[in-house]
Amino acid sequence: MLKLDNHASGRHFLHIPGPSPVPPRVLRAISYQTIDHRGPEFGAFGLKVLDGIKKIFKTEQPVIIYSASGTGAWEGALVNVLNPGDKVLFYETGQFANLWRALGKHLGLDVEVVGKTGQDSWRWGVDASVIEERLRKDTGHEIKAVCVVHNETSTGVTSNIAAVRKAIDSLKHPALLLVDSVSGLGSADYEHDKWGADVTISGSQKGLMLPPGIGFNALSPRAIEGKNRTKCINHIGLGMKFSNPIKMVTGQQLLVPI
Ligand SMILES: Cc1ncc(COP(=O)(O)O)c(C=O)c1O
Repeated sequence: MLKLDNHASGRHFLHIPGPSPVPPRVLRAISYQTIDHRGPEFGAFGLKVLDGIKKIFKTEQPVIIYSASGTGAWEGALVNVLNPGDKVLFYETGQFANLWRALGKHLGLDVEVVGKTGQDSWRWGVDASVIEERLRKDTGHEIKAVCVVHNETSTGVTSNIAAVRKAIDSLKHPALLLVDSVSGLGSADYEHDKWGADVTISGSQKGLMLPPGIGFNALSPRAIEGKNRTKCINHIGLGMKFSNPIKMVTGQQLLVPI
């Protein structure tokens, strides 16, 4: 039996990167009666949310909202812009970079790890010059994407995303830039459009201070165009294709399980 006699009195505020405490006004909103997720009220609300979320990512482009955790949104990003066998660089910064890379491998991508190796590798953020050096050697443009974690929750190290974009552009390399900002968004500065991310992945339970279970992909025009070229390789069966939500006019999430 759980012993409850040693808790400090007063309101507890757990200082961890997430799931973060949900503000009382959000908790109150969650207690409202359910509305029809296929009805017009939900549709109007959906459109408002899809528009409002752009401000948080600082983007003018569409943001996809999934009924999924950050891991599901990782997958949504990979399967929509890449094909099995595509070569993808994952920068080693910590546990979440590792998990994302493992998912990429599982999905059939040809994964290559860059960054510092050994004991020291988790003490640093992304060094854009390492990515630049690797892409310079890729004269045949085999590398289709570069994946970096903006805020590596396992170490607390935040990386300079704009510098990575600059490195890619300085070589005129066509690789897409995929950024995990699951714990960065809403906590640290994040500028999807200005920094030139092609897909930014995030989740609800950290900087946004919501319960877990909502995942996001902010897109770029190149990411949207890419979805026409890719074969869906997702394995958790969420049918995560960008196409329908982008075309969505009713504001209802058409594809995701609810
Ligand atoms: C940086 C980062 N990426 C991805 C994830 C995975 O998100 P989730 O646990 O919502 O699947 C986390 C979760 O802590 C994270 O901190």
